[in-house]
Amino acid sequence: MADLAKKGLKDQNGQSLVVREFQLKDKPEVQRIFYEGLMEMVPDTAFRGLRHHPEILLLYTAITVVCFATTKCSWLIGLLPAIVVCLRYFYSRCVIHGYLRQAMSSDMGDIEGHYMKTPGSHIWVAELEGKVVGAVAAFYLSDKTVELRRMCVDRRYRRCGIGVMLGQKVLHFAASHSYSSVVLGTTSYTPATHKLYKRLGFHCIAVTNGYITPGSTQSFLEQIFYRVRHHYYICNLQHSKVNIDGQH
Ligand SMILES: CC(C)(COP(=O)(O)OP(=O)(O)OC[C@H]1O[C@@H](n2cnc3c(N)ncnc32)[C@H](O)[C@@H]1OP(=O)(O)O)[C@@H](O)C(=O)NCCC(=O)NCCS
Repeated sequence: MADLAKKGLKDQNGQSLVVREFQLKDKPEVQRIFYEGLMEMVPDTAFRGLRHHPEILLLYTAITVVCFATTKCSWLIGLLPAIVVCLRYFYSRCVIHGYLRQAMSSDMGDIEGHYMKTPGSHIWVAELEGKVVGAVAAFYLSDKTVELRRMCVDRRYRRCGIGVMLGQKVLHFAASHSYSSVVLGTTSYTPATHKLYKRLGFHCIAVTNGYITPGSTQSFLEQIFYRVRHHYYICNLQHSKVNIDGQH
């Protein structure tokens, strides 16, 4: 998609992008965009994630040395990197599928019940020419804190400012409902995710190495070939003027 008329957030026909409340008819599209967004995390975790975990690289090196010492088989050693990469992809896929199953059997399966009928929570979609192109939810955690969840933008419409608009919607909602902070967690290694949240005024206050993703089985092999870092972000609404307006 063209840059939504160079970020005027209008398409070639002058149609504006709107962020509006979720309606029941949006459910299949929201689920599709969420599913596709999460599945992008499979290669992200398996390949990009490797660079962020030197301890795992060390472990793979140790496995290689032990294999060589015990088998003296050079073709096996030559194949090991490819085997490791395949196993990382396989286990990342398994865990992310498990996470998706869990999400679909809870909030993403009953979006209306979880976000539209629960006081203090909400969900919005970004719509362009009657087509849903992104979504984001706010989930009630306590009287002071709401969680930004399920941020996703259809990949054909990215880098046009839709993520920022969706994030600002959550910040507006939180400010107008007297929450004092918005929090979120992510295991994404994609720079886009972290840049987006920082741009919205969030800052990272905790990083958990070896985070246990909901839906993972924690089997021995899974722990070796699936390892992620969880970033916990917060946006204090005392500075909401800056955050909500998206200015820096
Ligand atoms: C993360 C995501 C929501 C961003 O949506 P988006 O509509 O493309 O974001 P925006 O266009 O509003 O971009 C906002 C800022 O994020 C950063 N950004 C976005 N895409 C980027 C990219 N591909 N590379 C580098 N930075 C990027 C930029 O700083 C950008 O501002 P700029 O364009 O003025 O430089 C989208 O990439 C997505 O849905 N990813 C898959 C699902 C996901 O990872 N969700 C978050 C999980 S917690």
